[in-house]
Parts: sequence; structure tokens; C-alpha cells
Amino acid sequence: MSVPSVPPEPTTPSDPAAPDAVASAQPEPLISEDAVNAAVDAALAAIAAATTTAALKRVRSEHAGESSPLSKLNALMRSVPGNQKAAAGKLVGQARGAVTKALTAREDEIGAIEAAARLLAETVDVTAAASAWKAGARHPISLLTERAADVFVAMGWEVAEGPELESEWFNFDGLNFDEDHPARAMQDTFFVEPTDAHLVLRTQTSPVQLRALLSRELPVYVVAPGRVFRTDELDATHTPVFHQIEGIAIDKGLTMANLRGTLDHFVQALFGPEAKVRLRPNYFPFTEPSAELDVWHPTFKDGARWIEWGGCGMVHPNVLRSAGIDPEVYSGFAFGVGVERAVMFRNDVKDMHDMVEGDIRFSQQYGMTI
Ligand code: DAH
Repeated sequence: MSVPSVPPEPTTPSDPAAPDAVASAQPEPLISEDAVNAAVDAALAAIAAATTTAALKRVRSEHAGESSPLSKLNALMRSVPGNQKAAAGKLVGQARGAVTKALTAREDEIGAIEAAARLLAETVDVTAAASAWKAGARHPISLLTERAADVFVAMGWEVAEGPELESEWFNFDGLNFDEDHPARAMQDTFFVEPTDAHLVLRTQTSPVQLRALLSRELPVYVVAPGRVFRTDELDATHTPVFHQIEGIAIDKGLTMANLRGTLDHFVQALFGPEAKVRLRPNYFPFTEPSAELDVWHPTFKDGARWIEWGGCGMVHPNVLRSAGIDPEVYSGFAFGVGVERAVMFRNDVKDMHDMVEGDIRFSQQYGMTI
């Protein structure tokens, strides 16, 4: 084996990394094993003592960074005489390797500890009972109204709406109410200021009859559910705000028989197949003839009996004229029923207060179907 004879590497006094290398020709090796071991021991102790990622980062910079003792020792390599270079290189290299390995291992340990702590802190107990969330419930008035409308939609009728703030003309005049009809009086109707605007809170859904006729081509088959207002005090059977379902059918050749058949189907769909309709002669300004509409059912809560539910009749020729329709060519029928009343006798609600107070427990007992 030939060993090339290499002259000792020249070192220059200007080498900043080895200021003493030339000046002192000491027997001691430039990079002593003790110094290296001391640096490694210090590094390993600091690594073991670090418990957080941040602390370990500081340790890495102190013990493996550019100005760490090991890096300084490593910098001395260029001043080490050639014949000692290999040994010195191995010594420093192994030392740095050991420190790097320890850093990596500790980094993994701390990472795992911190991840576990994070998981613990973010634990969600999926079995815990939900706290404040409560399901709402639809009001039986809404449920029954929709159900009634569905009965008519199934027969091919349209559903219409009208404004709750209504012009006096639609609510009264156009419906053939006399100037001095008692229903116009202050005790029944909420007139809205300024009075010369002639606006009222509609007292009935009947104005939608006119609106439906004015906005559609004939024939017209329209059902109109909605809220109505009267100056009644709230008590067990009255409320100043309540709901009606209005119906109007105008076509050629419609008769009272069509009204009767429609109502029979309506009450049977809503109350059950045994339900019956009775029409009692009555007076309404916008129908002629007019009738009171009674319903009978064997399982009504207070026993089989007739209950007055609404009004109906053949649409008065004057109402047709109000809508620009020739009563010689077209005829038809109309009806109006109360929704609160239906909920009372159909579902055995005894007190109107339950209907208006908004206590969710009242609505909840009906679930999502009625
Ligand atoms: N609008 C009437 C009321 O509120 C009820 C009514 C009667 C409606 C006869 C009608 C009808 O459509 O033809 O008392």
C-alpha cells in the first residue's frame, strides 16, 4: 500500500478558525476526544431535558447550530495536521451524527406527546346528550289549512292569496254589502287610518273571490286560505285574529248541486268518510241563495252532532258584475269556513287561548300531520 507523502497542510496565521494552530505546537491533539465527548454529553443532556417543540428548537440551535461547541470543533478540522485528519474527522463526525440522531428521536417523542395532548384537549364526547336544542312544531292551524288546500288542489283548483290590509271596496262594496250593512260598523271591523284611504283589516277571505275573478280568465276554481280580523275580545271561543278558507267556482252552468257535491267531498276528506253536510237557508250579501253550512260526524268529541262551520251560496249576480262577468252567461258558487272552529271540533280543542298563546307544547301534540 503506498501512502502518498503529503506535506503537512500549510496553515496560515490569517486563518480565523485556528488562531493558535501555528503559534503553539502542542502535543495535545487539536480536537481532543474529551472536548468532543463533553460537547456530546452536554448536547444529549439538553436534548433529554427538552419537553416542548419550542425548547427542542433552542437546544438544536445551541448544540448543533453554527455556533455550537461541536460546530466550532468541526471548524478546527482544517487546521488539523494531515495525519490526524482521519481520526479527528471520524471523532467529530460520529459526535455530530449522535447529536443529530438524538435530536430527531426526541423530536418524534415530543411530537407524539404534543399530538396526544392536543387530541385530549379537543376531545368531543359524541355520546353526550345535546343541551339546548329543541325541535319546533307546526301549528295545527297551518297543518289543517294546508290539508284543506290539498283537497282542492287534488280536484284541480288553484290556491290564491289576497292582502290582509284590504280596500273597503273589495271587503264590502264589491261583495254587494249595503252602505249601512251592520258588518261595516266599528264594532266588527278594524278601520285603518287615515279613514279616507278606505282601508280595513279584511274581516273575511271573501274579497279574494273578487281578486281571483279580476286576475284570471274564466272558468275560475280557486281556494283562498288566509288570516282575517274582527274587533272581538279574546275569549274561549273568539279571537280578533283568525283564519278562514274561501272557495269560489265560476263556470258555465254551475248549480247548487255542484256546491253541495264539492262540500260533501271537502268535509269527508277533512273529517272522515262518514261526515255529512247540511245547508240551512241564510242571508249573505254576496250569495243568492245563501246557506249556513253545518257539518256532522259520528266521532266529534262531544258526540255525533251538527256543528255550524261556515257560509255558502250561489255567487250573487252583482258580485259577478263587480268583476265584469255577465251573470247571464256564467254562474257559480262560493263558500267560506273557519279554520280555528274546525280545529276545535275536529281535534277537541276547548279553549281558543290555547290556539293563540304560542305555547309549543300545544302544537307538539299534533306532530307533523293532523
Ligand atoms: N265571508 C263570510 C263570513 O265571514 C262567510 C261566507 C259566507 C263566505 C258565504 C262565502 C259565502 O263565500 O258564500 O262570515
